[in-house]
Amino acid sequence: MFALSSLLAATLASANGGYERLAGHGGPVMGVATNPDNGTRLTASFDYSIGYWPASGTNHNAAPLWLEGHRAAANSVAFLGNHHAVSGGDDYALIIWDLQTGQPLHRLQGHQGKVQSVAVSPDARLIASAGWDGRAGLWDASTGQLLNWLQGHTSAVNDVAFSSDSAILYTASTDGTIRSWTIAEGSQRRVEVKHGFGVNTLVVNDAAGWLAYGGLDGGTRIIDIASGNVVADVTLDRRPILSLALSNDKTRLAVGDGDGYIMVLDTSDWTIARDFRAAKSGPVWALAYASDGRLLSGGLDRSATLWPQEGSAVVPGMAQQPFHRPPSEMQNGERQFVRKCSICHSLGTDPTRQAGPPLGGLFGRAAGTVSGYNYSPALRKADLIWGDETIDALFRVGPDELTPGSKMPMQRITAAQDRVDLVNYLRSATSDPKTSDPKTRDGGN
Ligand code: HEC
Repeated sequence: MFALSSLLAATLASANGGYERLAGHGGPVMGVATNPDNGTRLTASFDYSIGYWPASGTNHNAAPLWLEGHRAAANSVAFLGNHHAVSGGDDYALIIWDLQTGQPLHRLQGHQGKVQSVAVSPDARLIASAGWDGRAGLWDASTGQLLNWLQGHTSAVNDVAFSSDSAILYTASTDGTIRSWTIAEGSQRRVEVKHGFGVNTLVVNDAAGWLAYGGLDGGTRIIDIASGNVVADVTLDRRPILSLALSNDKTRLAVGDGDGYIMVLDTSDWTIARDFRAAKSGPVWALAYASDGRLLSGGLDRSATLWPQEGSAVVPGMAQQPFHRPPSEMQNGERQFVRKCSICHSLGTDPTRQAGPPLGGLFGRAAGTVSGYNYSPALRKADLIWGDETIDALFRVGPDELTPGSKMPMQRITAAQDRVDLVNYLRSATSDPKTSDPKTRDGGN
């Protein structure tokens, strides 16, 4: 008994050393980045914003600087030197940010699909973007000007990575291939990998002669760049693979998957150095190593987590998922809300960092009028009062029809009864402002 509890205490203590949570986003964290020069961190979220976090230990309670400018979910973010950053989002745009003021400097447009990933060249002169329009974009990092489209993939491009000399770009695609491109000519060099299933993520370590990738089918492979041969196949029964990160000293490769696990490989022999569950539910969307060897991950729970280098994965205060009763116990209207709205909207009146405005007090309220929420011009100008009719119409014809230019994503609820049930649920759930629901607040720390 004594032995067990002291072992447990020791486990908790070691796990706590260096464990840190970056909490405050109002939606899943889709992208993370670390700056080895000064220890600052960046997070890109489904809540449309980017968080810029001070180095750990400097001021633990300092709130991040919130970078607001994307008109839809932000998927990926990267440092551009110490004073700038670049991000890409579901709004088809990249934004170059001034990290001192938090303001957007350049909006890089031209993609005709969402921007899934961004990368900065090692010489910091170029930005690459992976677009679901099947193209990779190459941009001038100082002016934001488009330099070239790299076209050849037959479907969405999911990830981009530069060679160490900034001369070659590697791209991974849903079409099942990884290709390489000569940047100076803007032309394809060759197909590096034919995986068959969609490739979601890749890491290139050309100094050591290999690249690693993760696929939709769970495929996790290391390829010798010169020969194209498989150096190691570390595929487990988990899928999809969503994120990869190489430690700064290049000795560790971390692999994040759709089941919430992080596997850490030793790059000297490709054995598994560590494997732990990082999320109670849901995917590990993003990974990056901090210069102190800790691993930063982002996922469904609206926060990013720094994991200590070694030790147990028993984590004190592991983020609680928003608590919902099992859907089978809910009435249809509540189920509609939980499934289709709650990821972006709270039912309370307090400001949240979720993508959409809080819906508390919705009935009888004019569109676009919650103070402190950054509406699109379209919604601010809309001449609508929210009530049975207008909310029903919003999901019968869709936000793009009822409020053209709105930044609420296109969605319709086709079954009339589902709309009636949803409206009835919303009327009661939003009428008492005191029932500000707990799941919109993540409790900080
Ligand atoms: C992916 C995120 C997302 C989802 C999912 C979503 N919304 Fe929204 N919603 C938004 C955003 C963003 C806005 C603000 C739009 C703007 O400013 O153009 C918004 C605006 C609204 C508004 C107008 C509020 C106001 O203050 O004028 C209502 C009503 C609304 N949503 C209801 C819903 C309901 C009901 C659902 C589920 C069926 C839902 N939304 C699903 C993101 C979302």
